[in-house]
Amino acid sequence: MTRVLKIGGSILTDKSRELEARPDEIRRVAQEISAHPDDVVLVHGAGSFGHIPAKKYGLPQKFNREGLRVTHRSVARLCEMVVEALSRAGVESLPVHPLSCLCLKGGRIDSFFMEPISEMLKDGIMPVLHGDVAMDITGKAAIVSGDQLVSYIARSLKAEVVAIGSNVDGVLFSGRPLSRITRMDLAQVQSAIGGSGEVDVTGGMRGKLLELLDLADLGIESMIFNAGTEGNIARALNGEHIGTRIGGRK
Ligand code: IPE
Repeated sequence: MTRVLKIGGSILTDKSRELEARPDEIRRVAQEISAHPDDVVLVHGAGSFGHIPAKKYGLPQKFNREGLRVTHRSVARLCEMVVEALSRAGVESLPVHPLSCLCLKGGRIDSFFMEPISEMLKDGIMPVLHGDVAMDITGKAAIVSGDQLVSYIARSLKAEVVAIGSNVDGVLFSGRPLSRITRMDLAQVQSAIGGSGEVDVTGGMRGKLLELLDLADLGIESMIFNAGTEGNIARALNGEHIGTRIGGRK
C-alpha cells in the first residue's frame, strides 16, 4: 500500500523566522512516522527555510541565480534535519532533491525522473522530498511546492493513502473543518478559503486544495489534516479518516 505524506513547513519550522527549525516537532513527526514506515514517500514543506529566502530574492517571479542557490541549499538543510530525525527514530530514509530530478513547464511538473523513488521503496528506504526551486523549460526557473509533488507522485505511484498535514484541522469553513470537499463544492467554499497567514510563495490552503482536487478528478482521494495534533500523523498513515477528505462521494 503506497502512501504519500506531506508535512507542512509550518509544523517543522517557525514560518515567521528565517532558518528557524522546530527540532522538537521534527523529532515528534519522525517518531510518529516510525509507527507506519513501510511504502511511505515523505514530502516536507520548506517553511521559513524556503519561503523567506525565495521572497527575499523575488522568486519565482524574478530569475535570480544567487536566490536559487541560497533557497535550494536552505531547504536541503531542512531536509537533512528530517532525514537525521528519521534515522534516530529507526527509519532509513534518503533525500531526493526535486531540483535535481525534475523540470517544470510554466510552473507545472513536466518531467520527473521517478525511478530512484520506486527503487528506494522496493528496497525499504523512505524517499524524502521537499518543496524546492526548480528549472522551468518555458521560463528560467520557478518553485515546485510540496503539494504539487504530492499530487504528481500520488498519481504516478497510484498511491492508496494521500495525506497533507498542515497546522489547521483541515479545510476550514466558518472556522470549522469540512469533512469532505469535492469539485462541485469548490465555488461555494472558495471565497472562504485563504492563502497562508505567513510569508508563502506557493498558495497556502487554496494551493493545496486545487492540487488535491486535480488528484480527485483522477479518482484518487486524499485528506488535509492537522499534523500538529499528536497522534494524527500515525492515524493518517494508518488510513484513518481525519481532517477534510478531498474527492470521493458525499
Ligand atoms: C515551498 O514549498 C518551496 C519553496 C519556497 C522553495 P511548500 O509550499 O511545500 O512549503 P510549505 O509547506 O508551504 O512550507
